[in-house]
Order: sequence, then C-alpha cells, then structure tokens
Amino acid sequence: MEQGKPHYRDHLITICSSFSSSSNSSSSESTEGRTEGLCLDRREMSNLQSSWPEPIVRVQALSESGISSIPERYIKPPSDRPENQRSLPIPGAANLPVIDLLGAEGKAEDASALGEACREWGFFQVVNHGVSPELMRAAREGWREFFHLPMEAKQSYANSPCTYEGYGSRLGVQKGAVLDWSDYFFLHYLPPTLRDEAKWPSFPPHFRELIGEYSKQVVELGGRVMKVMSRNLDLPEDRLQRAFGGHDVGACLRVNFYPKCPQPDLTLGVSPHSDPGGLTLLLPDDNVPGLQVLRGDSWVTVEPVPDAFIVNMGDQMEIVSNGIYRSIEHRVIVNSEKERVSLAYFYNPKSDVPIEPVEELVTEERPALYPTMTFYEYRLYIRTKGLSGKSQVESLKSTR
Ligand code: OGA
Ligand code: NI
Repeated sequence: MEQGKPHYRDHLITICSSFSSSSNSSSSESTEGRTEGLCLDRREMSNLQSSWPEPIVRVQALSESGISSIPERYIKPPSDRPENQRSLPIPGAANLPVIDLLGAEGKAEDASALGEACREWGFFQVVNHGVSPELMRAAREGWREFFHLPMEAKQSYANSPCTYEGYGSRLGVQKGAVLDWSDYFFLHYLPPTLRDEAKWPSFPPHFRELIGEYSKQVVELGGRVMKVMSRNLDLPEDRLQRAFGGHDVGACLRVNFYPKCPQPDLTLGVSPHSDPGGLTLLLPDDNVPGLQVLRGDSWVTVEPVPDAFIVNMGDQMEIVSNGIYRSIEHRVIVNSEKERVSLAYFYNPKSDVPIEPVEELVTEERPALYPTMTFYEYRLYIRTKGLSGKSQVESLKSTR
C-alpha cells in the first residue's frame, strides 16, 4: 500500500479477528508459504488493531457545522481532483448498458448484451431483476433515516478496524491516511456465522427485518446474474458459482453516506478503486448522481435508471474469468447541494476457497493470468500492499 492512501476497507474485515483467534496458527503460515513475499511482520500485525490511530471525525458532522472550506485532510492532490478531469472527452453515448435480467435468462440476445457489458464496461445497470422496488426504496430510505439520527444514537454503532462492522468514517488504520468525504455503515449477511443482527441498526422500527429481507433478495439476484455470466462464457450455468465455493458465498453490505460538501471540486466521496470481491450490486440514490466509472481515460458519470441496480465485477470475478470479465475502477464525486446515499452489496467467494481462473478458460493461447489465492489471502495481500485503484490485481498479474 502506498502508505497513507486509504485502502479499501470492508475487505480487511475478518483479518483482525482471525489473527487474534489464530495468531500463531497455520493460517498465517500457509499464507506466507503460498503467496510469495506475503509475510506480515509483527509491526504490520500490530496495525490490525482494535482502535483507530486518531480520533474519528464524522464527515456528516463536519458538513453540518457550516464550514466553508474543507479540512486539508480531505483535499486530494491536484491530479486526482474531479475539477481537473471534467474536460476529458466522454466516448460515445456514455451511460452504462441497461440489461433486462429476465430477458437475459430467456433470450440469447439479452444474454449476450449482458456478457458484452461485463467484457466492455465491467459494469451494467440491471432492470427486470425481481427485487421489489418498494423494498429497494424502503431499504434506502430506512438507511437515510438512520444517518439522520442524532449523532449519539449513531455513535453507539461506531466501528473498529478489527471487523469494520458498524458506523465508520475512515478506511485505513495508518495514522495520517487520506480521508474521503463520506461516512458509512458496514454489516455482514453471509456466511451466517458472521451475521450479527445485534450490530445492525434497530431504528427505524423493524429495520432489522427489512435489512434481512433486502439482503436475501439481493443475494438471490447475485446468484441469477452469476448464472447468465457463466453461460456467456460458454460454461455450465453453475460454474462461476462453484468457482466461488458453491452456495457458501459471502455477502456484506456497505451503506455509503455522502454529506453535502462546500468544496466538491477538491475532494472525492470515495477515491478510485476496484472492488476486491466477486460482484457488487449497488443501489444508488434515486435523485443524486455521483458514481463515476473509468472508461478508457475518462470518468463517466453514471445516470441511474429508476429502480435498477448497478452491477459491477470485482477482482475475484476478473480472476475466475481469467481476465475476460474485468473489474473496473470507479470513484464517487460529491456536491454542495445534496447529500447522497448508496447501498453497495458485495457478493464474494467463500473466503477459504482457492480462487483461480476456471480451467475451461485457460488455454495455450491464454494461459492463467493470475496465481491461485483464497479471498482471505487476497485481503491479506491488500492489507500488506494496500489498495489503490487496481494495483493489487494488476500486480498479481505481473508476478507471473
Ligand atoms: C463502493 C462504491 C459507489 C457509490 O462502496 O465500493 O464504489 O455510488 N460505491 O456509492
Ligand atoms: Ni466500489
């Protein structure tokens, strides 16, 4: 990791707890053995601490304090600022492909449109997806209400870098890490052993049930998308799912809250990154854009289609598809007029399954582009090297 860059948070999740439960056990040893150079020394391990190195500042509180300029910690280097990249030409009709999922399950034409979106964009919007729009709206508005609770109520859910579960405002544990203009809430849904509903918000009323129902439906949707993606690679429809460990997938939710920002041209809501996991199913705000996807050299602002999910490939999908489907960098811009809420569901491989290109996609002309690694180890790799753009999956590629 470039010291000081925020690295992508959710994906450290279990590391700290695994170390504390098996600090001298085989899991760290086998990690060291299998992944060259991956050895966390004592100092690095002590970074996996149970508290943050600096007092946590809630971005929402900063925003509501009425400041007219943002603290230096949120100011990006000039080359990373949104203001300097607006003039880049936007290629073609620049919105994400919109895919009809029910169509894609039945019709070859819609299925290949989905496959093409995965190859060309690494992103698409999905409609006709089977998740009830009322449930989607209720979930998003419930989370909006949560973020509008008084600070003391939210603080009772404050997270630590051990598990990242709960209410958070920063991603890296290093002192001085660059900060983004957002707060978040992170929780586990799958595997059931990691699910702890007591850590989910208990307000608004019945919110836990609602989160449970939303999670169930989104995970189901993830499974359906995986099938069409498999068929598009000329694989049996359960092949990608099997590569991810069958039905024992991981699923966790990160709810992002982007407060209004007095100087949106100087900062970012989330810095550029690719999602480390399998697939991401994002429910964006219905009336505030913010997500930008890297397409060539340009940042394309996504215009959400009402009641659609935005789906994107994570690094593990890039790996199992041997680079045919690509995880694409994206980032979030903020604005001074409106806050924004988004729900990012991460559909991940089982953490201890070796993840590698599926053998059907490895040929003489196209050898395996990535070494084998579990998702657990991949998170450790990130923990060591950090996360910045697509650096981790790219550096794996270049080690061969
Ligand atoms: C994420 C993410 C995009 C958004 O949480 O990984 O990329 O629109 N979010 O909030
Ligand atoms: Ni993301």
